[in-house]
Amino acid sequence: MKINPIGQRLTLAEALIRSSPLTQSQGRIVAVDQNGIALSGFRPPLALRDRVATTDRSGTTIIAEVVGTRDGNARVAVLGDADGLSEGSTARATATEGLGISQAWLGRVLDPMGNPLDGQPKPPPALHRCPTRRQPPAPGLRQRLGPAVCLGVRALDCFCTMREGQRLGLFAASGVGKSTLLASLARSGDFDVTVVGLIGERGREVREFVEDDLGPAGLARSVVICATSDAAAAVRREAAFAAVTVAEHFRDQGQRVLLLLDSVTRFAQACREIGLAAGEPPATRGYPPSVFRELPALLERAGPGGPGAGSITALITVLVEGDDHDEPVADSVRGILDGHVVLDRRIAEGGRFPAIDVLRSLSRTVPGCQTAEQAALVTQARRLLALRDEVADLVRLGAYRAGTDADTDRALRAAPRIEAMLSQKKTEASSMEEAFAALARAVSDEPA
Ligand SMILES: Nc1ncnc2c1ncn2[C@@H]1O[C@H](COP(=O)(O)OP(=O)(O)OP(=O)(O)O)[C@@H](O)[C@H]1O
Ligand SMILES: [Mg+2]
Repeated sequence: MKINPIGQRLTLAEALIRSSPLTQSQGRIVAVDQNGIALSGFRPPLALRDRVATTDRSGTTIIAEVVGTRDGNARVAVLGDADGLSEGSTARATATEGLGISQAWLGRVLDPMGNPLDGQPKPPPALHRCPTRRQPPAPGLRQRLGPAVCLGVRALDCFCTMREGQRLGLFAASGVGKSTLLASLARSGDFDVTVVGLIGERGREVREFVEDDLGPAGLARSVVICATSDAAAAVRREAAFAAVTVAEHFRDQGQRVLLLLDSVTRFAQACREIGLAAGEPPATRGYPPSVFRELPALLERAGPGGPGAGSITALITVLVEGDDHDEPVADSVRGILDGHVVLDRRIAEGGRFPAIDVLRSLSRTVPGCQTAEQAALVTQARRLLALRDEVADLVRLGAYRAGTDADTDRALRAAPRIEAMLSQKKTEASSMEEAFAALARAVSDEPA
């Protein structure tokens, strides 16, 4: 990344002035309750997203971020454990440091502040610090999407072909295989760097993911940023922004980055907790309005970079609560991303994994990246599956007679072959050519 040396010196000077004890604004904790923590007495007053440092009873420094201000009081969300904080403690404004991301972050499992979670020493911080809140590249300067990328999963590569720099959502109810599918993509060889954000998910899954799914070779070119479900809301929210910031760092060095976020729903829930504690009114399904500003602020940062930069290709899981695909977070995320993959519980219960419902899944950029033959094969396969679904009830009741309609007969012969081609073991990787060759065999009317 090119940094203007004068600009960088100014930023450093500014940071030094802001962090100098003489210029630091000081105040006091005036309330600690179930709604959060309120501070008062800061001159100049605190502004939104300012960071403050205070100490708990044991003398440990605790950092918090301003999430709202009213009547001279600032509400903060603690980046860590708030136990031991008491009314009357002094707090001081601190510089928002940003993350000192470097090559040494590759191969590491870190929390969103860059502290190690893998038992190894903290990576040495880089001189240049990346702020975790940034604007995406200007729309007019952003490069266009690149060529098709191979994810190694036949159902995705054929029916939802992704392009470099695209953002795709994996939508499903709980336990249908989102995390497993995301894990199987982590080793995709088509990228230089993989950044994984595990947000608000189970602690048990982190080690399994790192050791079994990434493996030593995959981990060596990956950075895993993690905040499990028991972490404070501000930490879970920060984990998503930190993961995107790490991906941007490598993208700005010209690398092709794969960003995997599991899950954006937990990020939205963390934003909801913070928003409600800051006094925002609950709107749609209890989500305050700020959640629907944070989602695009996070997700728009993935994608192609500006001139000379690489790209961030992103796959993001969305937990669809109660199988309602129109619930507000799913709806909002679907509108921001460039495509959605739907995983269906009935398909998973039938034992076909990945349980992708190809007829309900869509990549908005497919027209620009498939050959005419590939597009024809996919259209034919979709038509055969749709025809099979149309008569499925009749077939189940024994009310459809073979020979009634030639197209339907063909669909009933081909559908099991297409289903078999869509089924894939987690550890089995498939090239783009193999995927389309398998699809061609499945739709051809010759016996397999
Ligand atoms: N490819 C697969 N092959 C075999 N079984 C699978 C596969 N994918 C998922 N499963 C089964 O489904 C279960 C749930 O998968 P997973 O944890 O990936 O779901 P999830 O959608 O991430 O759930 P949650 O929303 O609760 O996090 C797994 O424990 C496994 O039994
Ligand atoms: Mg999961």
